[in-house]
Parts: sequence; C-alpha cells; structure tokens
Amino acid sequence: MAKEVTYDVAANWKILYENFCECYHCPTMHPEICQILPSWRTGYGTVSGPTGPKVEGSLFADDVTGFSLSGKPAAATLPGVPPEDERTFHGILLWPNVHLMFIPDHVMCMRFEPVAPDRTRIITQWLFHPEAISTPGFTPDDAAALVDVTAREDFEACERVQNATSSSYFEEFHTPHESLILDFRKWVHDRLHPGVQREPAESPA
Ligand SMILES: [Fe+2]
Repeated sequence: MAKEVTYDVAANWKILYENFCECYHCPTMHPEICQILPSWRTGYGTVSGPTGPKVEGSLFADDVTGFSLSGKPAAATLPGVPPEDERTFHGILLWPNVHLMFIPDHVMCMRFEPVAPDRTRIITQWLFHPEAISTPGFTPDDAAALVDVTAREDFEACERVQNATSSSYFEEFHTPHESLILDFRKWVHDRLHPGVQREPAESPA
C-alpha cells in the first residue's frame, strides 16, 4: 500500500454506495475524470456489480497514459496486465461495501464503513507493486488526486441526498441507468428480511 486516505461523510453508507452504482451524474459532476475516461461523458460508466451485467472497461483518452489527475502513470504497468488493458480502467463493486478500481499500474480499494445512520467512514487505499514503491522519485499522489477530487464531488452530493431523505417527497424511483442500484437494494433487503417480498419489487421506470 502506497497511500491511504480516510473520509468522514455525513451520509448513510447505502446512499454513498449507490452513488458508485451509476454514472449518469458523471458528465456534469466529474469533469476531471471525464477528461481521463471520455466514455463517461455518455452517462454510462463501466463499474459492474456481482449481479449486474458484465461490462467492458473504459478506455483512456487518446492523450492519456495513466489514471491520474495529470493523465500520466505513476508506475510501470503491473506484471500480467494483458495488452488490451494497458490503457483501460476497470471497476468492480464487491457488495455490500467495497469498490475496487483496476488500473494498469495500480489497484485502488475503497471501503465504506457505517458509523451512524447518517455518517460513514470511507477508507481509500492505493496499492502499487513493491518495486514501484521502492523506485526513487515514486509518488502515488497524482493518481490519488484524481480519485480524491472525484470522491469529494460525490461525497458533497451524497450529503445533499442525505438531507433530502427527511423530505416527505422522498421516494424510491429508478431510471434504466440505475439498474445496479435496484440490484443492490434487493440484495440488502434479502439479507435484512429473508423470505419477505420487497416493495416495490421493480422500478416503476
Ligand atoms: Fe460519482
């Protein structure tokens, strides 16, 4: 592990986790990461969940060589990465509370820990090859800065969603972009209330 950052966010852990299950907010909320992964400007990200569709990775922009704020890699490509993934981002959600990003030169692990109904601790770790970490001049900061700026944008939005949950108008609704969120809610429901039919069973969208 080359770097660890802990965030304390005033939102329920499920609101935060659901944020990472969809990407229609990406074009307007995440200009920095859309520069690196231009396909995210479509509103369809490529993070997959355990019951969601298997998705392709996201290709770097033409002038980008690394998943970082500057668009440069922090280290050499990890051993074993196939040629087709040398300029590709892959993201996977491990339910219920882990998000992994697979980058050609490192792995980023984000873990969501509930602290209170309206508070969550997020532990973010950047994993690099030991040889990269021991290389003179190595720093994970440029790579971490891209996730940091993106995560702070997400966390601010999630705190607003948390505030909205107290509104009498707050209700469950899913667009087709949010199928992973629906899968996640069903997954959580089935573990909290085994054998009980969830309402609504499907999205009205
Ligand atoms: Fe986001």
